[in-house]
Amino acid sequence: MQAYLNTAIKAARKAGDIAQINFDRIESKDVRTKSYNEFATHVDEQAERAIIEIIRSRYPEHSILGEEHGMQDNDSEFIWIIDPIDGTTNYIHGFPVYCVSIALKIKDRLEVGVIYDPSRQELFTAIRGMGSQLDGRKIRVSKQSKLEGSLLGTGFPYRNDEECLKVYLEMFSDFAKVVGAIRRPGSAALDLAYVASGRYDGFWEFSLKPWDVAAGALLIQEAGGIVQNIIPNTDPVESGSLFCGNPKIFELMQEIIKRYDEKLKAFA
Ligand code: IPD
Ligand code: CA
Ligand code: CA
Repeated sequence: MQAYLNTAIKAARKAGDIAQINFDRIESKDVRTKSYNEFATHVDEQAERAIIEIIRSRYPEHSILGEEHGMQDNDSEFIWIIDPIDGTTNYIHGFPVYCVSIALKIKDRLEVGVIYDPSRQELFTAIRGMGSQLDGRKIRVSKQSKLEGSLLGTGFPYRNDEECLKVYLEMFSDFAKVVGAIRRPGSAALDLAYVASGRYDGFWEFSLKPWDVAAGALLIQEAGGIVQNIIPNTDPVESGSLFCGNPKIFELMQEIIKRYDEKLKAFA
């Protein structure tokens, strides 16, 4: 597994360097609208190409699922799940919160995860069964045991879905009444890395994609945290609607999220 992790690290650093060199140089002509409120730049594409090139040079038979280039299937049980720039809206605006996220799934199980933050040059890594690290030092989820005084991260729904926004805002209000503070920096993968490293006590968001959450989910589990689906009977990584936290905060968040089970079944 160490060799796979080394490959992911090399690729993430390369993509991060490409992004960082071009940071704050994006003009409106460089921005492509993929769908409502979803954007990409030539840098997203270039960074993803660089990642794929590094992976393919070592593992030509593996499959790749990248946000910008889609599924490149070799029928392999090895699938690299890539987000070359998570936080593209921030990136376009020169707002320095974004990251590179790479995960490796083998036989349907996440085995390796890397999240690299080029702005702070922080590297979060995990191998299943071997814990999570930040810049080579072991990390653990926080020890916060009450919602009172806790710090939660979240992401606002940005797709044009009234129903989802309504449930989200009700849930947000329930959390806002009891927690210490809530943050929305704009890069879900980095948010998950922050749960793994104890900077946040918990996090929730709806409708993310596997490339936003695959690496972060493994990082959190390996750091002693719990990741679960928000929408009943769905897989948290596949559905992308998830909440997570240290075990105690997770349990307390679950009590609030459970109130919405009936409403959320409609989103399954
Ligand atoms: C986005 C970021 C953001 C989240 C969005 C994602 P992108 O990823 O993770 O925090 O709220 O749902 O799509 O598009 O910048 O890679
Ligand atoms: Ca993303
Ligand atoms: Ca992206």
